[in-house]
Amino acid sequence: MAADAAPEPKANMGQPVPRLDARLKVTGEARYAADFPVGNPAYAFLVTSAIAKGRIIRLDTESARAVPGVLDILTQDNTAELKEVKFGSGGASTSIQKLGPEIAHDGQIIAMVVADTFEAAREAAYKVKATYAEDKPSATFGDEGLKEEDATKVSERHKHVPKVGDADAALASADVLVDAEYGTPTQHHNPIELFATTCVWNGGQLTIYEPTQFVYGLKNSLAKKMDVAPENVRAISPYVGGAFGSKGQFTPRTGLVALAAKKLNRPVKLVVTRDQGFTTATYRAETRHHIRLGARRDGKITGYSHEGWEITSRPDAYVVAGVEDSARIYGFGAVQTKVNAVHADRNTPGFMRSPPVVPYIYALESAMDELAARLAIDPVELRRINDTMHDPITGKPYSSRSLMRCYDEAAKAFDWSRRNPEPRSMRDGDWFIGLGCATAVYPTHVGPAAARVRMLANGEVQVQIAAHEIGNGAYTVIGQMAAERLGVPLSSVKVELGDSSLPPAPVAGGSNTTASACSAVLKACDAIRVRLARSVATTDRGRAAGFAADNGQEMRADLFRRLGVGAIEEYAEFIPRGGKPDAVKQLYAGQVAMTGGPNGEKLMYAFGAEFVEVRINALTREIRVPRIVGAFAAGRLMNTRTARSQYMGGMIWGISSALHEATEIDKARARYVNDNLADYLVPVNADIDRVEVILVPEEDHEVNPAGVKGIGELANVGTAAAVANAVYHAIGIRIRELPIRIEKLLDA
Ligand code: MOS
Repeated sequence: MAADAAPEPKANMGQPVPRLDARLKVTGEARYAADFPVGNPAYAFLVTSAIAKGRIIRLDTESARAVPGVLDILTQDNTAELKEVKFGSGGASTSIQKLGPEIAHDGQIIAMVVADTFEAAREAAYKVKATYAEDKPSATFGDEGLKEEDATKVSERHKHVPKVGDADAALASADVLVDAEYGTPTQHHNPIELFATTCVWNGGQLTIYEPTQFVYGLKNSLAKKMDVAPENVRAISPYVGGAFGSKGQFTPRTGLVALAAKKLNRPVKLVVTRDQGFTTATYRAETRHHIRLGARRDGKITGYSHEGWEITSRPDAYVVAGVEDSARIYGFGAVQTKVNAVHADRNTPGFMRSPPVVPYIYALESAMDELAARLAIDPVELRRINDTMHDPITGKPYSSRSLMRCYDEAAKAFDWSRRNPEPRSMRDGDWFIGLGCATAVYPTHVGPAAARVRMLANGEVQVQIAAHEIGNGAYTVIGQMAAERLGVPLSSVKVELGDSSLPPAPVAGGSNTTASACSAVLKACDAIRVRLARSVATTDRGRAAGFAADNGQEMRADLFRRLGVGAIEEYAEFIPRGGKPDAVKQLYAGQVAMTGGPNGEKLMYAFGAEFVEVRINALTREIRVPRIVGAFAAGRLMNTRTARSQYMGGMIWGISSALHEATEIDKARARYVNDNLADYLVPVNADIDRVEVILVPEEDHEVNPAGVKGIGELANVGTAAAVANAVYHAIGIRIRELPIRIEKLLDA
């Protein structure tokens, strides 16, 4: 098992060193936002709306104020000084920021109680009584009162969608056509660490402890919210206990806590309850898809049409528009796509692990399997026939792409060749056996970043960068990059992250952290090497060879002596190819522009292939996944141990999406029903059996100086389709709406 956890590095892969923060985490010494001790804190508790649509006509706080220990109650009547942070421009998760009187979704914050103790705050919060004028809400697809808009007309982020050739004509003349609709449910991230915020004012200086994927975004957004200069705000978040996109944006609670702390002149701490987190943070939107896929008899695809619908809130046109990526992944011929924002009386959705591709690739990879069945072509061969090294939309080449190598390695390990292609043909006693596969893909995002690296004469190295440890292994891989470039053991490297007083790194989103942060650290380390090399050139022993990474301790000490310094420190700014010259300046201001994916001169994507075995009980329809194999190629891997963990976690989440996970909504009241960890289904160990990860070597010098593609969001893309395809193979029923649960298989 230990050997499994620490895969032997292959070409272009780093050592499987254990996480630098492993001991701190398992001993409880790693400090998460709510753990930071502050002097004499007051405690806050949120009051949230009991209706989804309407107005507050009366808010009675009298009995709440009478609870002993209550210090203040923030409501619509005393929070006017909070500024609006515009949705879509900065990091704001929603434009629904006011506490009333208008109610735009169930669970909207309508008040916040602050008291001497948590218990008093909670008791008082329960005594705040709101009287509403209630309207009938629209909750989800199929309801009355939804408003549908072409996303390219209303989304700040998605002004275009891919199109090439005449897809309607290609589809009309195709030998074989798949025309199908797919659906994915609402999901919530449910990180184990709850959403917490502590604010401390010291004169005009505000310090905030909040688990965040973007300390610079938090700092700047909060400064805007409070109408203070950004240099007066410091955001601290050295560890994040799960985020998955839910902690990347600025949410409405934060300004309330800062305001309460200012009014009371006392630190205020808020830990949002699990159920309140469902409506005061973001979630993955429910989606629908209509796909048409046409091909010749020999399997060559000639046309692809994909229209998506995504649920969003009333005011915010949030969409993920995954067609931007799905349209690139095969040689489709003609392509047409469309994305619709569907406004309902819901909170605004947001990023959730692999946001654009998870729902869209699920739909496409399901349709690919349907096409393979219709053509009687092996699903792997269908991908091979349509594999491409060029963007079907623009003709741009991929910087690297190892999709078929992933398929071949995973198919071999999985023993795919034993599959009888006939559905419902493989059986073991009472169990139908199904084997399915699908493609995983994720755009390689790279952002600007800055880093400071200091090397002491004794070989100790300090790395400072405001990147984020969200469970991704950031401390470790960033430390490995510095150790490698400066020729010191990892144990000599100290890494500081997650503090806006450090040089900025991008939001830990879009799987860019390793690529961006390591590229900045590499640049700072190389500047140190240059300074040492200049010194080496003047030594007898140095000759002209320059400073080699494996120079010994003694030589290094000698160089520092010659330079007459005890330490060398370099600050470096990294801007990825295609980034704007002022990208780092913008980053300091909390704005991050990523490059990569479909945007540059070349397409930059990581790929993988996943194979799943399902077993479905012939009598009960119980669905099990005894085995999943994934092979992934993503450029340089800094650490095979953390990489394997990321991939494994991604695939497990994919199984969860396929079989377990969904936020259920009461359609009459537009209210989440299973807003707790008891009722929100996620897989436990008993649901997950053998998970095999194959690390496929790949080299790509074009993506960024570190040669790294993102991996955090790659492996849960395609998994749900692979499971759905295996279910079809097992039992002969195509389930086109996730999750696939027993009741959907009863009629078979
Ligand atoms: Mo990820 S959803 O970009 O944190």
